[in-house]
Amino acid sequence: MAQPQAKPASAGQTAPVAQEKKAPATPAAEPSTYAGAEACKTCHAEIYTGWEKSPHWKQTYKEGGIAKHGCEECHGPASSHVADPSDTSKLFLFDKAPTKEINQRCLTCHAGGTQHMNAINSEHTKNGVSCVSCHSPHHAKESEFLLVKAQPELCYTCHLQQKAQFDMPFHHRVNEGLIQCSDCHNVHGTVGPKQVRTSSTQDAVCFKCHIDKQGPFVFEHAPIKVDGCQSCHLTHGGPNPHMLKLSNVNLLCLQCHTTSSFSSAPEAPSFHNQASLFQSCLLCHSQIHGSNFDATFFK
Ligand code: HEC
Ligand code: HEC
Ligand code: HEC
Ligand code: HEC
Ligand code: HEC
Ligand code: HEC
Ligand code: HEC
Ligand code: HEC
Ligand code: HEC
Ligand code: HEC
Repeated sequence: MAQPQAKPASAGQTAPVAQEKKAPATPAAEPSTYAGAEACKTCHAEIYTGWEKSPHWKQTYKEGGIAKHGCEECHGPASSHVADPSDTSKLFLFDKAPTKEINQRCLTCHAGGTQHMNAINSEHTKNGVSCVSCHSPHHAKESEFLLVKAQPELCYTCHLQQKAQFDMPFHHRVNEGLIQCSDCHNVHGTVGPKQVRTSSTQDAVCFKCHIDKQGPFVFEHAPIKVDGCQSCHLTHGGPNPHMLKLSNVNLLCLQCHTTSSFSSAPEAPSFHNQASLFQSCLLCHSQIHGSNFDATFFK
C-alpha cells in the first residue's frame, strides 16, 4: 500500500539532479590541500570543541586512525579556505550537497558490516533522505548515534501515518519506549521490502521476540509460515485486541475458511453454525499459532 509521506526538509533532497552528475571541476587555481585540524580550531573553536567530544574524534583522529585528516576527512582539503576564509568553494558542504554525494562521503568509512550494506539503495536514499537528515556530526541532540532527535519522534517528523498507528488502542509499545522502530526496521536499507529486518536466522523479524510462535510445530497453521503474521495482525497497531485485523475473530478466520476464498484453507465444517457458539473459534481452536498435539489446534 503506497502512502504519501511528508518529504524531508533537507537541502539534499531539493538539490537538482544535474548537480549529482557534475564532474569534478578542474580548478584554474591551485588545488586545495590538507591544512590539518589545528588550523580550523582558531576560527571554528566551538565546532572543534564539540568534535573533540564526539565519536568521530575519539576513535579516529585522536588515535591516529583512518580519519587522520580530521575535519577535512569530511569537508575535503581546506587550505584555500584557511588562506581566504570567504572562499568556501572547494569545501564539501553538507547542507548544499545532493543526497548521493553526502551518503558516499559518510559511507567511505561506514559501508562495512551488515548494517549499512544496502545503504546505497535504501528507500531513504532513493527518496532524498540522506545520512544527515537523521544524523548530525556537530549538532546532534542525542549523544547516542549522533541523532538529530531520538526515536520515535525522529521518525514521526516524516512518518505521520505511522504515528497515528502507534496511537491506536492496541499497539506495540514504541511510544512507551519498550521497543523501537529500529528493532524491526533497518533504516539504512534491507534486502527485503519495507526496510524490515530479519531475525538472526533470516526468518521473519517477529520471531526475534515472539519465539514461542516460531515452532516448529507438529501441526503448523499454514498462514503463519506462508503469508506471515500480517495475514491476521496489524504490525504497528490497530483498534482491535491483539492487534488483529478484524474485530470479529470469526470473520477473520472465515476470510480463508470458506469455499469462496482463494486460499487453500478447508471450509469450516457445516455444523459450525455462525449464529451460535461456533462464532468463537478460539474457544475450541485455541492453539491458533500451531500445535504439537492436535491437527485442529484444540490443544
Ligand atoms: C581564518 C579563519 C578560518 C579558518 C582557519 C577556517 N575557517 Fe572555516 N570558515 C571561516 C568563516 C569566516 C566561515 C564563514 C564563511 C562564509 O560563510 O562565507 C567559514 C565557514 C566554513 C564552513 C561552512 C561553509 C558554509 O557555507 O556552510 C566549513 C565547512 C568550514 N568553514 C570548514 C573549515 C575547516 C575544515 C577548516 C580547517 C581546515 C576551517 N574551516 C578553517 C573561517 C575560518
Ligand atoms: C564526520 C564528518 C564531519 C567531520 C569530521 C567534521 N564535519 Fe563539519 N560538518 C559535517 C556535517 C554533516 C555538517 C552539516 C551540519 C551537521 O549536520 O552537523 C557540517 C557542518 C560544518 C560547518 C557549517 C556550520 C555548522 O555549524 O553546521 C562548519 C563550519 C564545519 N562543519 C566545520 C568543521 C570543523 C572545523 C571540523 C573539525 C573540527 C569538522 N567540521 C568536522 C560533517 C563533518
Ligand atoms: C532515517 C534516519 C536515518 C538515516 C537516513 C540514516 N541513519 Fe544511521 N542511524 C539511524 C538510527 C535511528 C540509528 C540507531 C539505530 C540503529 O542502529 O538502527 C542509526 C545508527 C547509525 C550508526 C551506528 C550504528 C552502526 O550501525 O554502526 C551509524 C554508524 C550510522 N547510523 C551511520 C549512517 C550513515 C553513514 C547514513 C547514510 C548512509 C545513515 N546512518 C543514515 C537513523 C538513520
Ligand atoms: C573518516 C571516516 C569516517 C567518516 C568520513 C565518517 N565517519 Fe562516522 N564514524 C567513524 C568512526 C571510526 C566512528 C566510531 C566507531 C563506530 O562507532 O563505528 C564513527 C561513528 C559514527 C556514528 C556512531 C556514533 C555512536 O554513537 O556510536 C555515527 C552515527 C556516524 N559515525 C555517522 C556518520 C555520518 C552521518 C557521516 C557523514 C556525515 C560520517 N559518520 C562520516 C568514521 C567516519
Ligand atoms: C526526513 C524524513 C524522514 C525521516 C526522519 C524518516 N523517514 Fe522513513 N522514509 C522517508 C521517506 C520520504 C520514505 C520513502 C517514501 C515512503 O515510502 O514513505 C521513507 C521510507 C521508509 C520506510 C520504507 C517504506 C516503504 O514503503 O518501503 C521505512 C520502513 C521507514 N521509512 C522507516 C523510518 C524510521 C523507522 C525512521 C526513524 C528512525 C524514519 N523512517 C525516519 C522519510 C523519512
Ligand atoms: C514490531 C515490528 C515493527 C515496529 C516496532 C515498527 N515497524 Fe514499521 N513495519 C513493520 C513491518 C513488518 C512492516 C511491513 C508490513 C506491514 O506494513 O505491516 C512495516 C512497515 C512500515 C512502513 C511502510 C508502511 C507501508 O504501508 O508501506 C513504514 C513507513 C514503517 N513501517 C515505519 C515505522 C516507524 C516510523 C516505526 C516506529 C515509530 C515502525 N515502523 C515500527 C514492523 C515494525
Ligand atoms: C523487539 C521485540 C519485538 C518484535 C521484533 C516484535 N514484537 Fe510483538 N510484541 C513485543 C512485546 C514486548 C509485546 C508486548 C507488548 C505490550 O505488552 O505492550 C508484543 C506484543 C505483540 C502482540 C499483541 C499481544 C497482545 O496480547 O495484545 C502481537 C499480536 C504482536 N506482538 C505481533 C508481532 C508481530 C506480527 C511482529 C512482527 C511484525 C512482532 N510482534 C515483532 C515485542 C516484539
Ligand atoms: C491465522 C491468524 C493468525 C496468524 C497468521 C498469526 N496470529 Fe497471532 N493471534 C491470532 C489470534 C486470533 C490471536 C488471539 C488469541 C487469543 O485471543 O487467545 C493471536 C494472538 C497473538 C499474540 C498474543 C497472545 C499470545 O498468544 O501470545 C501474539 C503475541 C501473537 N498473536 C503473535 C503472532 C505472531 C508473531 C505471528 C506470526 C508468527 C502471528 N501471531 C500470526 C491469530 C493469528
Ligand atoms: C490467511 C488465511 C487463513 C486464515 C485467516 C485462517 N486460516 Fe486456518 N488455515 C489456513 C490454511 C491455508 C490451512 C491449512 C490447510 C491445509 O493444511 O490443507 C488452515 C488450517 C486450519 C485448521 C486445520 C484444518 C485441518 O483440517 O488441518 C484449522 C482448525 C484452522 N485453520 C482454523 C482457523 C481459525 C480458527 C482461524 C481464525 C483464528 C483461521 N484458521 C484463520 C488459512 C487460514
Ligand atoms: C465448539 C467448538 C468449536 C468452535 C467454537 C469452532 N470449531 Fe471448528 N471445529 C470443531 C470441531 C469439533 C471440528 C472437527 C474436528 C475434527 O474433525 O477432528 C472442527 C473443525 C474445523 C476445521 C477443519 C475442517 C476440515 O475440513 O478439516 C476448520 C477449518 C474449523 N473448524 C474452523 C473453525 C472456525 C473458522 C471457527 C470459528 C468461526 C470454528 N472452527 C469454531 C469445533 C469448533
